Amino acid sequence: MENRPVPQLGVLISGRGSNLAAILGGIDGGALRAAVAVVIANRPDAGGLELARRRGIATHVVPHRNYATRDAFDQALVARLRAHEVQLVCLAGFMRRLGADFCDAFPRAVLNIHPSLLPAFPGVDAQRQALEHGVRVTGATVHFVTPELDAGPIVQQAAVPIEDADTAETLSARILFQEHRIYPEAIRRVLEDDWRIVGRRVIFGTPRPRV
Ligand code: GRF
Repeated sequence: MENRPVPQLGVLISGRGSNLAAILGGIDGGALRAAVAVVIANRPDAGGLELARRRGIATHVVPHRNYATRDAFDQALVARLRAHEVQLVCLAGFMRRLGADFCDAFPRAVLNIHPSLLPAFPGVDAQRQALEHGVRVTGATVHFVTPELDAGPIVQQAAVPIEDADTAETLSARILFQEHRIYPEAIRRVLEDDWRIVGRRVIFGTPRPRV
C-alpha cells in the first residue's frame, strides 16, 4: 500500500485534448501514479474541457485575449495551478508560449509534447514542416519547458518514419499515436525516477527509494 501523496498534475490545453485523454488513460490503467487536479484551456471551445468535466475534474477557461500582457496571462495561469496545489504542469496541445515567470513558478516541473524530433521543426505545423523538408524520419518529443520555444531539455522521444504517400494528416495520425504512448510514460519517469539535468541532457538514474 502506497502512502506517499498522489502527485497532482495540471494540464493546459487549447484543443481536442487527446493527449489529456492519454494521460488519464495512463492513470486509469495504473501505469501512471498521479491525478489530474485541474485542466486549464485558453479557449472556451477546447474539446478537452468536456472530457475533463465529464470526469469531474476542475476546469478553468483563461482566454489569453483577456490579458493585456503575456505576464498577466501567465500570472493568471500560475494562480489557478497553485490553487489546485499542482506539482507538475503538462502542456498538452497548449498553443501559447509561456514566459520566464511561469517557468520560474514551477522550476523543472513543466513538460510539453511536441510533434517532431526536436530540435528539428519547432513551432506550429511541425508535421507539415517535416514533410515539406523531406526528412525520412520525424516523431514526437516530450521536453521540459523553458521560455525559448520548444527548446528545453528532452525527456523522451519516439521516431516515426515518413512514407512517400504521407500527407500532413496521415503523418500527424502516426505521430499522435506515439505522442499518446510516450507522454504518460515520460510523466511517470519525471515523477518517479531519479534524474538530473546536466547541460541540456536529462540523465536518468536509479528509481528513488520508496518510503
Ligand atoms: C498534438 O500533436 C501536440 O503535440 C500538438 O498539438 C496536438 C494536440 O493534440 N502540440 P491534442 O489536443 O492533445 O489532441
